[in-house]
Amino acid sequence: MSSTDLVTFPGRGGTGAEPGRPGVGRAHGKAILLGEHAVVYGAPALVMPMPQLTVTVHATRFACPGDGADKISFAIAGQHPAPVTPLVTDGLQYLVERFRERAAVTGRMCADVLIDSDIPQGRGLGSSAACARAAGLALAAAFGRPLDPAAVYDLVQASETVAHGRASGIDALATGATAPLLFRGGSARELPITLSGPRPAGVFVVADSGAGGSTKEAVELLRDRFEQDEQIKEAFVRRVSELTTAALRDLEDGRLTGFGAHMTENHRLLRDLGISTEPIDAMVEAALAAGGLGAKITGGGLGGCMIALAGDPGQAEAVAHGIQEAGAVRTWVVPVGRFASHDR
Ligand code: MEV
Repeated sequence: MSSTDLVTFPGRGGTGAEPGRPGVGRAHGKAILLGEHAVVYGAPALVMPMPQLTVTVHATRFACPGDGADKISFAIAGQHPAPVTPLVTDGLQYLVERFRERAAVTGRMCADVLIDSDIPQGRGLGSSAACARAAGLALAAAFGRPLDPAAVYDLVQASETVAHGRASGIDALATGATAPLLFRGGSARELPITLSGPRPAGVFVVADSGAGGSTKEAVELLRDRFEQDEQIKEAFVRRVSELTTAALRDLEDGRLTGFGAHMTENHRLLRDLGISTEPIDAMVEAALAAGGLGAKITGGGLGGCMIALAGDPGQAEAVAHGIQEAGAVRTWVVPVGRFASHDR
């Protein structure tokens, strides 16, 4: 992958090269609009960043003690209640190893790494990729080794592959993007949509079912299913590719109703493969009954979140209310468009 086709930003980081001054890295959540799972098999997917869900990581170097090993200790800020699954995963530990190689750090590395994340875990909103991205950027700043976007992507992908088994790269890019993306085959381009203008861009409502789901298990479930029946895989990947391509044209031409219908069909395909859950299906139906233009599960599934499209903020409010009545524990309203990067 070339660095020129990545739509990422390096994130904020002080020089912080001396012990004691923290390096800071930031990233954010994401929600997949269409194409999850099929994207693992080469289909295109549409994804939007969720700037209201951020993760900030501070990496503070300290003088290494006498013995020979690196010491990178992770801590989590302000998680009340404590997360069910540990935020400091094998993926993050692996990221540290890869960071040393990729950033060509020759001396010992000793740092305290503090992760402060708003992104709920195991909800398909990109928590693991965002933590990895922010941690990589913070380490780069703390050790005075700036990384280009391709290097950041490689680090996050390495960490994601440990966390999820097989990762398409969509989360690694979207958690650093400042605009919705069309992702395919490891690279992405920004979608041509703005918050205001002659064409309505719509408003998305993302809702948390309150139940965690493992992306790793969901990816493995489909891999096993597809290994048993290649035709099911081909039909799924082909149909999702068609839906995503048609939805992209809808978005470009301002046909929100068409976009929503493609989302809903994508949900039914995922549901039929066992990726959805009853609570998520109920939230999808409630969103449609409340006037939503389309609705589907988002992310890895087997729990987690759903996403609905509304035509305007008033409709989004009604849709959010309907989804809450159906059991959502949290909702976020996300207007479609570009936002300022964290690099300020
Ligand atoms: C996870 O956000 C999206 C999946 O398609 C996995 C991936 O693309 O890496 C389920």
